Amino acid sequence: MIRLGEGGLMDNLRNDMAQILFEEDEIQARVHELGAQITKDYADKNLLVVGILKGAIVFLADLLRSIDLKLRLDFMAVSSYGDAVESSGVVRILKDLEQSLEGKDVLIVEDIVDSGLTLKYLVQNLSSRRPNSLRVCTFLSKPARRVTDVQVDYVGFEIPDQFVVGYGLDYAERYRNLPYIGVLKQELIEG
Ligand code: IMP
Ligand code: MG
Repeated sequence: MIRLGEGGLMDNLRNDMAQILFEEDEIQARVHELGAQITKDYADKNLLVVGILKGAIVFLADLLRSIDLKLRLDFMAVSSYGDAVESSGVVRILKDLEQSLEGKDVLIVEDIVDSGLTLKYLVQNLSSRRPNSLRVCTFLSKPARRVTDVQVDYVGFEIPDQFVVGYGLDYAERYRNLPYIGVLKQELIEG
């Protein structure tokens, strides 16, 4: 197998990182654990996975293939950040779900829970649509940044208060395609 990260083919992007927090193999191992846990917890349920665009897509693609159930999949897109690194607290629905939540066991899949404002809004909004149950799975969580109380049921990794990119997470729409999670070099962050 050709390992892109080790042959120099992905070095363009790696050169922009001050630090790597989680390498690809560590991420894959953790995502498989989460998938196995979700498979157990939803064995006799009617699972609908709701991926939050765009950040969650890389995590979601791996997670889905670790869940051994006849699940359904839908997507929502919300805006909370624009191109900046601070949350505005204002959440807007850019794309809504295609299916009803009635009778479904809904699992929201997020890239990262930072202030928690986006998730708080999503949980309130989706609970009002009468799902059978509603839980949250996030790849990353920054507990130190939380400004609102919101329950997260599955967490890939907890991280300190650092702005990270990769594995779906962006800075100004870049770096989503990194297979690892890194911290950008300070000189590449504007302002
Ligand atoms: P919250 O509303 O502050 O919890 O922010 C949630 C959203 O902010 C996430 O879905 C991400 O799109 C973005 N975000 C928060 N922290 C980071 C980060 O460290 N890197 C990239 N995006 C982030
Ligand atoms: Mg973003």
